[in-house]
Amino acid sequence: MLSNQAGDGKRTSLHGHWSSKMAFILAVTGSAVGLGNIWKFPYVAGENGGGAFVLVYLACVIAIGMPVMMSEILIGRRGRRNPVATTELLGQEEGSSRNWRYLGMLGVTAGILILSYYSVIAGWTLSYIVKSATGTFVGISNIEVVADHEAFKANTGLVSMVHTLFMVITTFVVARGVERGLEQAVRFMVPALLLMMLALLGYSISSGYFGAGVEFLFTPDFSKLGWDGVLEAMGQAFFTLSIGMGAIMAYGAYLPEETSITGASATVVAADTGIAILAGLVIFPLVFANGLQPDAGPGLVFQTLPMAFGQMSGGAFFSTLFFVLLSFAAWTSAIGLMEPAVAWLVESYNRTRAQAAVIIGALIWLIGFGSVFSWNIWKDNTFFQGTVFDNLDFLTNQIMLPVGGFFIAVFAGWVMCRNSTADELGGTGTAYTLWRFGARVIAPICILIVLYFAISQVVA
Ligand code: TRP
Repeated sequence: MLSNQAGDGKRTSLHGHWSSKMAFILAVTGSAVGLGNIWKFPYVAGENGGGAFVLVYLACVIAIGMPVMMSEILIGRRGRRNPVATTELLGQEEGSSRNWRYLGMLGVTAGILILSYYSVIAGWTLSYIVKSATGTFVGISNIEVVADHEAFKANTGLVSMVHTLFMVITTFVVARGVERGLEQAVRFMVPALLLMMLALLGYSISSGYFGAGVEFLFTPDFSKLGWDGVLEAMGQAFFTLSIGMGAIMAYGAYLPEETSITGASATVVAADTGIAILAGLVIFPLVFANGLQPDAGPGLVFQTLPMAFGQMSGGAFFSTLFFVLLSFAAWTSAIGLMEPAVAWLVESYNRTRAQAAVIIGALIWLIGFGSVFSWNIWKDNTFFQGTVFDNLDFLTNQIMLPVGGFFIAVFAGWVMCRNSTADELGGTGTAYTLWRFGARVIAPICILIVLYFAISQVVA
């Protein structure tokens, strides 16, 4: 039996609470800022021609990202349980249906699938720490850096090993629990990463190609962007903000009553978007300065940055530091990806946190081999969108997260009564009105339109 039944209407979480508002903001920022900002954003923007993609992405962050993030936090805090139990409980409490639990389950599943490939890329970053430290990139040429990256991805044994290592450390932190594990890991990572990116920005400005980078990122050419690109931009907005899968809902469950959800969301959205744009401003000037390709795909940062570091004095040191920070960023995100599944297993099957973390971690680790092999032994086994990695990426970011986000917005906007949401958002002022319009109308309609046009294009 759960010990946090609604008595006076205010529940507490079984997993403990964040020690302060700052801790919550750090944790959510830590989950949001990750490979999505530094690895993914530049390469999807690069593959989709730059400016127009970036504009659509920014529009999605504001029009869909903000209201969905606020909805997730408020649902989470009201239910104070794992996403499955919370959606089930609130569905009933708000006079709708217990079947809203399937929304929670969709999220738990998405988290597991995303982490399965996320861990593989995070494993790459671990390897790049060692490569940097041992001087692999000192004075490397653009042809060599690309060849080195290709050879690295093709090394099944090595990539399997680093994927395993990454899952072990992630499972370890999740097993330690909310205050002890999650909070400590994020406290210094975000500020350190920001400083490092700013230093790199200085370098990219001095490369002589800063203008070309800015032009690529901010000059919209809509002839380069089809509906599939628009869907990818929307998927990227969901992915980078960690929304649409109940992760932020799970974090919201540990949020103290008095914290402002609007303020916390705005801070996180601004920090996350800022870091993604910063990454773009670092990477594209380097792409153009070194004759690399903006549409190099998932290998993009693993080619541009080592190349740039290889030309700096002290580059091996800074390169090592950079990949250490990126691994940290990936790690704090990975924790968030695992949290919904682990919290669900703990509450539903009476497991200890450690047992649940090991079970879920092992499952994710196994599925991850589909992505490990996507660049080597299964490289040519392509179907639908491409390799196993390509398909998981498409299914999660472009289908599951938007669908999850749609139902989260509809749930908070239409199913929950005005009193409940106003209670969580601290009254019915302007911010509340804007949020409610966003959650009821703008976010659901935009998501439907993009999904409709993109899917009819894929099917046609
Ligand atoms: N936002 C993370 C990143 O940009 C990835 C991510 C997606 C995530 N969904 C999440 C992280 C849920 C934590 C929880 O790298």
